[in-house]
Formats: sequence, structure tokens, C-alpha cells
Amino acid sequence: MSVPKAPFIVLEGIEGAGKSTQIATVEQACADAGFDSVVTREPGGTPLAESIRDLLLSSPAEPVPPHTELLLMFAARAAHLHNRIVPALEAGQAVICDRFTDASFAYQGAGRGVPEPDIAGLEQLVQGALRPSLVLLFDLPVETALERVAARGNENRFDKESGEFFERARRVYLRRAEQAPQRYVLIDAAAPVGAVSAQIAHAAKAHLAAWA
Ligand code: TYD
Repeated sequence: MSVPKAPFIVLEGIEGAGKSTQIATVEQACADAGFDSVVTREPGGTPLAESIRDLLLSSPAEPVPPHTELLLMFAARAAHLHNRIVPALEAGQAVICDRFTDASFAYQGAGRGVPEPDIAGLEQLVQGALRPSLVLLFDLPVETALERVAARGNENRFDKESGEFFERARRVYLRRAEQAPQRYVLIDAAAPVGAVSAQIAHAAKAHLAAWA
């Protein structure tokens, strides 16, 4: 897979971090920097990948083995990359994606216990060298996150996981951010919404300036 010709910005974090509310801030930063942008999400982002998303978020009558979950995530991701993300980047459009492969390392890896090399192998298979150019990592205490999820209601299969699951996921997100500080920006998602927007706008602007 070729190297992107445009920014590929991903929003990540545990449930209740407030990512979805901030997508518009990133979109605005892209417009200000002169980029057309495509807003998308994972799992999903194309009709086929959205069908796989429905499978992943529903609660079937039988257990979902961790490898089934992982492979479905990457099956959806392969379609999303091939049919939407890569064509947009090649056309010079910025891609803004709500979650990507870091979520597989955090949820299927740390959360469900799938060994990291299994995930890294699929990452290589499906993405080749393609990685997000910027990951905005929304970080907040798990307790606060779970309070927000409870207040929002309407839970999917992942929202129902335990505090320990999200503690493990949070630790892996933070470790990955620490290991590649040039591609990750930590956002204090416990801050008031306006302060979070300001952090996002600042980080996105700095990143986009490098593409000018
Ligand atoms: P969604 O309701 O979109 O969650 P959020 O609004 O918090 O992003 O549901 C997507 C769920 O899928 C979310 O709980 C995280 C999970 N997920 C994984 O477990 N692995 C992955 O690779 C991705 C992309 C998402």
C-alpha cells in the first residue's frame, strides 16, 4: 500500500471519551488548512464494512471468540482501506477516522487478550506500511468514562465491558502513544468540552501545517 499523499488523522480512546463530538473540530482545522476531507469511522465506513460493524456490535446468542472479533475488525478494515481511505488519500483528501488499528491493539489485544504479534501480523497484511499520520488520543480516567457511558445509555457489546477491561485498554493506548510520540498527541478528555476542542484544534493545526 502506497504512502499517503494527504493527512490521515485518527481519533482514539476508550468509550465515553467524547471523540465523536470533536470530529467537527478536526474537519474545520482541515478546511482552514485548505484540505477537502472525508469523515469516516471504524469498524465501518463503507456499506460492506458497515454490515460487518452490525455483526460486531450486536450480541449474538453464542460467544464471540476473540479471534473472530479481531478478524472481523480487519475484514472490515481491508474493505474500508481499499474502497474509501486509500482512494481519498491518493486524491489528496484528508481522511478523518473515528478509531482505527490502535483500537484493535487496545480492545482485542489488551482487552480480550489476543497476543500483540497476531494483531501486528494482520496490520502488516492489511495495511502494509500505511499508518495514520496523526492519532489524537483522548485520555481520561476509566471511572469518568464509564459514568459518561452510563449517562448516554444505549449500550453496545463493548460498552458493557468491565472497568478492568478499559483500564487495560487505556494502558495500551498510552504505551503506544509513548512509543511513537511523533504520531500521537495526548488529549486531556476529562477537561470541559471547549478546552478539549482547543487542544484538538491546536494539535490538528500543527500537524496540517507540515503538509502545506
Ligand atoms: P462505537 O459505538 O462507534 O464506539 P465509540 O463511539 O466509543 O467509538 O463502537 C465501536 C466499538 O468498536 C467501540 O466499542 C470500540 C470497538 N472497536 C474494537 O474493539 N476494535 C477495533 O479495531 C475498532 C476499530 C473498534
